[in-house]
Amino acid sequence: MKIYLPLDSAAVALGADEIAHALHAHAKAKGVDLTIIRNGSRGMVWLEPLAEVETPTGRMAFGPMALADVPALFGDLAAHPKALGLTDDLPWMKAQTRLTFARVGVIDPLSLADYRAHGGLKGLERALGMAQADMVAEVTNSGLRGRGGAGFPTGIKWKTVSEAKADRKYIVCNADEGDSATFADRMLMEGDPFTLIEGMAIAGLACGATKGFVYIRSEYPVAIEVMQKAVEIARAEGVLGAKVMGKGPAFDMEIRVGAGAYVCGEETSLLNSLEGKRGVVRAKPPLPALQGFMGKPTVVNNVISLASVPVIFEKGAAHYKDFGLGRSRGTIPLQIAGNVKYGGLYEIAFGLTLGEIVDKIGGGTASGRPVKAVQVGGPLGAYFPRALFDTPFGYEEFAGKDGLIGHAGLTVFDDTADMLGMARFAMEFCAIESCGKCTPCRIGAVRGVETLDRLGRGDASALPILTDLCNTMKAGSLCALGGFTPYPVMSALTHFPDDFSTQKEAAE
Ligand code: NAI
Ligand code: SF4
Repeated sequence: MKIYLPLDSAAVALGADEIAHALHAHAKAKGVDLTIIRNGSRGMVWLEPLAEVETPTGRMAFGPMALADVPALFGDLAAHPKALGLTDDLPWMKAQTRLTFARVGVIDPLSLADYRAHGGLKGLERALGMAQADMVAEVTNSGLRGRGGAGFPTGIKWKTVSEAKADRKYIVCNADEGDSATFADRMLMEGDPFTLIEGMAIAGLACGATKGFVYIRSEYPVAIEVMQKAVEIARAEGVLGAKVMGKGPAFDMEIRVGAGAYVCGEETSLLNSLEGKRGVVRAKPPLPALQGFMGKPTVVNNVISLASVPVIFEKGAAHYKDFGLGRSRGTIPLQIAGNVKYGGLYEIAFGLTLGEIVDKIGGGTASGRPVKAVQVGGPLGAYFPRALFDTPFGYEEFAGKDGLIGHAGLTVFDDTADMLGMARFAMEFCAIESCGKCTPCRIGAVRGVETLDRLGRGDASALPILTDLCNTMKAGSLCALGGFTPYPVMSALTHFPDDFSTQKEAAE
């Protein structure tokens, strides 16, 4: 008997390890020959821990599993109280377009053989037969843009590094996923680490870099462990090392662990931290693409950007580019969280409206109350009211509504949310996480909290000060932390004026 049970942190937090122990104990007592594969999560977090039993017709899903549900898995499966049917037939799975996450939840994350059997390493094999410029062109033609949040064209970044003259170049993967409601990087690393390794190896070949680092936040112990093991396996099997796949140039990788600063997700802070320095933002220029890690040309890409590269090389740039909307090409792993009925990861082509994502995919709020707001793009993203739910999910479409898609995390709030409180939270978050390098953020965020407190006390004269402060932070901050904090603050003020009681007074 073969059962798949996620090692994913969300599943483990919900009891997956206890279920695994109970399954082993029960199988032993019944004399059943049981193999448990600890896979990645399928992304249906409300069903975790989700057990999948291999059957002749496909994998059958059972969840959310409790200890009491274990014995029945050894009986008539169709009669099991938590039986959900075949995993592939579940509506959540069926309607997705999984390109980057195609293998997550399907394969054994640490089996290179399983990875190969599901199309793994085909992209790298193809890249090995291409010239550097053609590899860069393939990424450019795919339309892939930075999935960390900024949406900068990945091909242009690679071109800058590829054409830079230097004795050493580096590929740095930003896995310091710090945005609220985001977990795509973690799920990918835990569920399909070889995809990231393959993407980094292709980036190394395309840019002439021989060394790669994955900078993972310390709060992701499972991802760190899985990535470390995967790099060792890839090295032992000749995927990485002195000759990539036994025939290419050298490329090797190291896993590095951050120390818990949100600002270390900003690329120059991350590089400082990687060099053993304090995680303070560096002024740009010079761009990391020209002077990055140890002053050498460095590609700094997010996990999802790099993990999307293998499928682009396997299926071709045109295949990837065929999905999407406007200048947002390919697919995006949406991460739906907060007060929502069906939270989890859902990969789909760009273009769904915010309303479709929240109401249809997410199923509305978990509390059953009306949705009041959705914060898109993490703590620096804008709050969208229902009136803007017709906004299609795309970089330009969200920017046009004074928002951002960021790393594609969505936090849903019901009608009990206090938007003045949320605006204050944004300023407080910025004050706590500020690296202190520039004044608009270091001082501005502290003054922002005080100004919002004045508004909360009914002092209408604080309103123009808040607007002025937000404009100063937006225009004068050195990085996105100070520069983008005005998005949640001003969107809360603009779209939910009733929550800012002084606005009402000012209008009266
Ligand atoms: P940015 O717009 O300054 O830069 C984007 C990227 O393009 C950088 O890597 C930059 O070095 C590169 N670049 C720009 N011009 C280039 C050129 N000519 N050649 C080569 N490379 C070039 O944005 P930044 O500050 O890197 O990121 C801000 C974003 O980060 C925000 O949109 C926010 O959503 C996101 N973010 C994501 C978080 C997460 O957890 N994933 C956390 C916090 C923020
Ligand atoms: Fe540091 Fe804030 Fe300035 Fe960014 S905006 S450099 S986090 S002080």
